[in-house]
Amino acid sequence: MYKRNKPYILHEEPGTKRYCACGKTKTAPYCDESHRCTDIYPIETYIEIPKTVAICGCGKSKNLPYCDGSHECSKPI
Ligand code: FES
Repeated sequence: MYKRNKPYILHEEPGTKRYCACGKTKTAPYCDESHRCTDIYPIETYIEIPKTVAICGCGKSKNLPYCDGSHECSKPI
């Protein structure tokens, strides 16, 4: 999942969301339980109202699961 150099732009409906934190999921950016053999757990968050979110795809955000623009720092100049 963290091989992208850009976020996943998603329209989310209200409810609990589980985003991958281990990078092994095959249903990115959502957790598919691939972390089971690691000591890493998904990032769980509750969305209260329908909204568009930018979920980090590079793994460098300091505000996971959300993109904070850190992926811009890894682009070639
Ligand atoms: S995609 Fe990771 S900070 Fe934007």
